[in-house]
Amino acid sequence: MVAKNRSVLILAAGKGTRMKSSLPKPLHAVCGFPILAHILRAAQELNPAAIGVVIGHGAEQVKQTVLDNLSAWGITAPVEFYEQTELAGSGSAVKAALPFLQKQESVLVLAGDTPLLKADTLAQMYAQFEAQQAGTLVLAVKVPNPAGYGRIVRDGQNNFEKIVEEADADETTKQIDEINSGMYVFNSASLVKALGQLTPQGPKHEYYLTDTLSFIKQTGLPAVVFTSKDFEQALGVNSRVQLAQAAQIMRARINEFHMDNGVTLINPQDTYIDAGVEIGADTVIASGCYLLGNTKIGPNCTLESSVYVNNSTIANDVTLKLGTYIEESEVAETCQLGPYAHLRPKSVLKKGAKVGNFSEIKKAVIGEGSKVNHLSYIGDTQMGAEVNVGAGTITCNYDGKNKHTTVIEDHVFVGSNVNFVAPVTVHEYAKIGAGSTITKEVSAQGLAIARSRQVVLENKGVKKND
Ligand code: UD1
Ligand code: CA
Repeated sequence: MVAKNRSVLILAAGKGTRMKSSLPKPLHAVCGFPILAHILRAAQELNPAAIGVVIGHGAEQVKQTVLDNLSAWGITAPVEFYEQTELAGSGSAVKAALPFLQKQESVLVLAGDTPLLKADTLAQMYAQFEAQQAGTLVLAVKVPNPAGYGRIVRDGQNNFEKIVEEADADETTKQIDEINSGMYVFNSASLVKALGQLTPQGPKHEYYLTDTLSFIKQTGLPAVVFTSKDFEQALGVNSRVQLAQAAQIMRARINEFHMDNGVTLINPQDTYIDAGVEIGADTVIASGCYLLGNTKIGPNCTLESSVYVNNSTIANDVTLKLGTYIEESEVAETCQLGPYAHLRPKSVLKKGAKVGNFSEIKKAVIGEGSKVNHLSYIGDTQMGAEVNVGAGTITCNYDGKNKHTTVIEDHVFVGSNVNFVAPVTVHEYAKIGAGSTITKEVSAQGLAIARSRQVVLENKGVKKND
């Protein structure tokens, strides 16, 4: 259900100077999603009538990334972009979105750099704002180290008085450990009026959004401080150090979520699971594993150490042994991979297939129960069921210009050290002698031997020492 009177505005135009990056700050990734995606996803959970995004630094790149990923991030609310042409502070960012504010009754304003925000906190903020018919509400948290944040200054009755930025704070104000999270709800009309009253402040002559709260209070409407004990959700990413801190906190949250769902993590401190990953119950994951992108792992799987899976689907009861590396591939139930197996993009392993030690598969189907256990390269291949591939087998799929397909039908037995020079087809129940270089079609049940005959020259071997 769309909440008609609720809307969200995200400020993502700032330069992010302290990141020292050519990538706009909102696009830096935290556990697989850009920071801005985390914020949009939390905003979406409120079912707002619209989401506005203020862009400026790297505007085109930010806008395009959002537009390209709306469905991947599950954003269904209409998203509107507003460009801030002069980057003169958070107040001027909101001003850039005046046409947005004029369409809304109330608005939740979020910064574009707080990836740890929680949707349920936002919902509680909005509910309290509505219940109190407030002019403005700010999410405040007490932090162990308030340096760098705006401080919440309260009056004699412990009510909101103003927000003072770090750069403008005297020593007493700097002692305040209650900080502005940069998340607010505003009555839109009050906000529009207050924006008109802003004047440049501080060493950088910026228009502070934070000043609008005092202006709104002065109109007589309640200015509410909504306090939360969970201070981590307010962490703003301004530097690479804070980026790493945010990722570490989010990783711990993600890992706890999966453990609560019945996944065993042997060493959660050293397990890296992206926000979009799904894992079935009773799967056991050893130390040093990376599960990235939109990976799905079924139940009852075993992942030994240092397994890397990116954008892939792994069914149930699969074993991924040490050092297995899987990209954009599909692995069916009861398959076994590794140690040190490599599935390159578009590989499909059917039920019970095995890809073992130092074998590489690319854009190939390995049929049900088939085995590629040792030191092989299988690329651009259609392999049927119950095929046994001997050690060191290579598909020669590339002629220097084009890639060609190798077809190996059901129940074929391939001896060790065979080359298949593609395009080539081997029909069912054929057998290929070890060391063969197969360049021509092999008939069903045929035995192909394509290697030079052995010659033995008598007494030409190693001379015995007598
Ligand atoms: C801001 C708050 C501070 C609060 C902190 C919480 C102000 C004046 N200060 O400080 O009280 O404790 O967030 O994290 O708001 N932005 C624009 N255009 C601009 C400037 C900024 O869109 O011209 C955006 C940035 O992209 C960012 C957000 O506004 O997402 C906040 O800006 P930032 O420079 O990070 O403010 P802080 O100094 O962290
Ligand atoms: Ca910030």
